[in-house]
Amino acid sequence: MKCDVVSSKPQTNRADTIVLFTSSLSKIQEKPLKDLDAASRGALSILVQSKEFSGKEGEFAQIVAPSGYAARRIIVAGLGESRKITADTIRRTFGLLSRNKGITSSTSVACSLGNHCTTDNIQAAVEGFLLGGHKILTWRSGEGAKNSSKTERLSFLLDGNRSPKKFAQAVGVGQITAEGQILVRELAATPSNDLTPRIYVDRITQLIKGHKIRMKVLDEIQIAQEKMGGLIGVAKGSVEPPRFVILEYNGAAASQKPIVLVGKGVTFDTGGISLKQAADMHEMKADMTGSAVVIATIIAASRLKLPLNIVTLTPLTENMPSGTATKPGDVLTMRNGMTVEIINTDAEGRLVLADALDYASKFKPQVVIDIATLTGAALFILGYAGAPVLGNNRQVMNRLRSAADATSERVWELPIWDDHRDQMKGSIADLVNSGGRAAGTIAATAFLENFVGDWPWAHVDIAYVDMEPKGRPYVPKGNTGIGLRLFVQMLRDWKKL
Ligand code: BES
Ligand code: MN
Ligand code: ZN
Repeated sequence: MKCDVVSSKPQTNRADTIVLFTSSLSKIQEKPLKDLDAASRGALSILVQSKEFSGKEGEFAQIVAPSGYAARRIIVAGLGESRKITADTIRRTFGLLSRNKGITSSTSVACSLGNHCTTDNIQAAVEGFLLGGHKILTWRSGEGAKNSSKTERLSFLLDGNRSPKKFAQAVGVGQITAEGQILVRELAATPSNDLTPRIYVDRITQLIKGHKIRMKVLDEIQIAQEKMGGLIGVAKGSVEPPRFVILEYNGAAASQKPIVLVGKGVTFDTGGISLKQAADMHEMKADMTGSAVVIATIIAASRLKLPLNIVTLTPLTENMPSGTATKPGDVLTMRNGMTVEIINTDAEGRLVLADALDYASKFKPQVVIDIATLTGAALFILGYAGAPVLGNNRQVMNRLRSAADATSERVWELPIWDDHRDQMKGSIADLVNSGGRAAGTIAATAFLENFVGDWPWAHVDIAYVDMEPKGRPYVPKGNTGIGLRLFVQMLRDWKKL
């Protein structure tokens, strides 16, 4: 989709459909709506008086464009109570617009945000429109594989005295961000038979083409040489060998320490010998969402030319039950030398992340942030409304919170206390990989902490929030791609720690 800004009035723009916006209203007052009402012999007043349209969020009024307008159709979109309008209101409204019949039957759409025309809102608008209209079509056949929307161009109208440059930039940021999030959704939705660790490596190789990103892949032999006992232990049950992928983007001087992003890349999690129940197990194809987030983030960072050095680390493996699989009671020796008694083979994410976190020390990082579909327990903390975050550095926590508030990908901090650390202490080995049902999300993080070096670190648990059960304005049912907007926003605002 082409997204751009155009200096023109709603009347003269030649798009198929013009969209105007208004907060809740009982009377038409703003100039663009007054103009439209006058030109249409009061078509809008009729809708307002009959209470068919009151400007509530999610309400749309559609009229045939009257003479004096070059477009064919005009939609007035409600944004709700004016003091409650935020960038996410705009994102949601554009999410709904992207699937509105009047819009999907238009090749070109031009929006006039009026007094809501800010760079943040334009970015959110582009994000909402692209994310809301995104459909997974790769695995459909025939007619079903075709995108039903005709929209090819989304423009934002600026009145004459505004300089288009910064608004055009905001459109670009919105588009790169949305495309990044869509990439996460596409990868997460990919069936595990189309995304084994080896196929995933091929996908990444293709995806980074044309970007200034270097790639290094450790195969099973090199993983063994690195003594990554956690990753090896998880991968042992599968005929598919594991991979460990390192991506590097250098947007700053070599002297600047890198930001290292670690993503869990379990391409299918059966639970292993501690087998999961059959219900919903198919969703475990998305147990690599953390890896998809960090890969899409480094690509977005390169497209945005961020002045940062970024490294991503992604351990890729299946977690399968078989005659060669790790069994409960087995002890693994991790890359950092610590030993772990496997209590539950379904607690595999922390094992592969632990080796990746330990590996991160190689890069003398400024900060390390990992993201993972790690614990089912996260559902019982914040539900689908937000992701738990934990870590060891106040500033990094604050940055995640600010980015979360700005993007509406919400996070909330949980503590790690010695009680949780005690839960993960082993009886025959240094650690156990499962400390029982209590505080599952925190206990998993207390386990990871043993592999964290002398650097600021944060952990984001996106279990469950990676899947939308019903569908929201700009989040269709299915894989959400959560984490991408959060990370991109945090990196765009990043100041050296
Ligand atoms: N991948 C799962 C966590 C998960 C569950 C993500 C549901 C998304 C939806 C993880 O590997 C796992 O199985 N965790 C276990 C840990 C337990 C055995 C200590 C869990 O949360 O039940
Ligand atoms: Mn598991
Ligand atoms: Zn898992």
